[in-house]
Amino acid sequence: MSEGISQPDQPVTREARAKGDLFAKFDELIQMREGLLASGVEDPFNLVMEKVLSPTRAICNGRETILLGTYDYMGMTFDPDVIEAGKQALADFGSGTTGSRVLNGTYQGHKECEEALREFYGMDHAMVFSTGYQANLGIISTIAGKGDYVVLDIDSHASIWDGCAMGKAEIVPFKHNDVEAMEKRLKRIPEGAGILVVLEGVYSMLGDTAPLKEMIRIAKDHGAMVLVDEAHSMGFIGENGRGVAEDQGVLDQVDFVIGTFSKSVGTVGGFCVSNHPKFEIMRLVCRPYVFTASLPPSVVATAATSIRKLMHGSNKRAHLWENSRTLHKGLRDLGFDLGTEEPESAIIAVIMPDLEQGAAMWEALIENGLYVNLARPPATPANMTLLRCSLCAEHSSDEVEQILAIFEKAGKAVGII
Ligand SMILES: Cc1ncc(COP(=O)(O)O)c(C=O)c1O
Repeated sequence: MSEGISQPDQPVTREARAKGDLFAKFDELIQMREGLLASGVEDPFNLVMEKVLSPTRAICNGRETILLGTYDYMGMTFDPDVIEAGKQALADFGSGTTGSRVLNGTYQGHKECEEALREFYGMDHAMVFSTGYQANLGIISTIAGKGDYVVLDIDSHASIWDGCAMGKAEIVPFKHNDVEAMEKRLKRIPEGAGILVVLEGVYSMLGDTAPLKEMIRIAKDHGAMVLVDEAHSMGFIGENGRGVAEDQGVLDQVDFVIGTFSKSVGTVGGFCVSNHPKFEIMRLVCRPYVFTASLPPSVVATAATSIRKLMHGSNKRAHLWENSRTLHKGLRDLGFDLGTEEPESAIIAVIMPDLEQGAAMWEALIENGLYVNLARPPATPANMTLLRCSLCAEHSSDEVEQILAIFEKAGKAVGII
């Protein structure tokens, strides 16, 4: 933590723990947050969007603000067909299903959404969950249980780690994106054990992509099944927007693709697609699918419409790549330290010297009308403080130039460049 952030007046006391204060474990975080706010910066984790004008603009603190941290990569949230489909389903099917998929919660719209996913990925099976978090939680915990092994990248998303913990398999992490480290771990696993290798197409903190081609080959050589979370690549990466596995020509070797509707699809929900012949049994044995209410009809209708439109999104994909390249080069030319050498996705991470300067920079950006995500440990790798920028296909080239001008002004004011 930066020395500039005021330190806690009262460190966690043994007495607090001794009294059985179940909140004592959060004291350090509470004090860090209070220290940060006491330094006078606006709370970066409490921003309110007073009105959302489009996928790239909102009113925040009474000011029109450019959005550069929404993960609405393909700008589908305001697509007229998507909105119309949601309105129609709301009128025809009501506001919610009030039930699990295995009881009263499967409507025609859920089946149509799964059909759209099967077509989008060209796979035999699709299962829709209420969130992407639940999709990872459910699939990983259900297929990898006690006595099995999950080999995963150390920088995996929290939902992947939580799925491993819930399933109680042996967890075998390896260094981020390190093919050799992954192979070494696989070699140590006893012969004949069940192995699931879990990878992500794009890692959302730094916006870097995985060497899936090599990793999947090695995983298969060791008899492992492979799950790839394509949350941050669906809709954008690959010729048909199927993700990094498509881009690297290995989609047919992936056993399970996990995805979310909360990014390129522009709504909420999660899914798994697979060609595994026994996949349908998951609907009966996967607890985060069975023991929760299904998505509202309006949500599955918007998701299905959006997914079908994403199948024909190549012009948008090309424009988003152009935005990503322009922003990456522009930020680098201004002297910012970035998470990747080259733009690898629609996420560009700007590395801050510490949390205090990161928060000051975040505030300077928002005051100048630009919203980005501030990410800090423990969510970030190597204890980094990051300003994560996620581009949208609806950002115009002009907007990208405005974004660069705001970064230049804020960076100079805070003294980072
Ligand atoms: C890699 C990854 N997987 C899964 C999720 C969970 O998605 P959802 O927002 O649908 O729960 C996220 C969300 O941030 C993610 O980044």
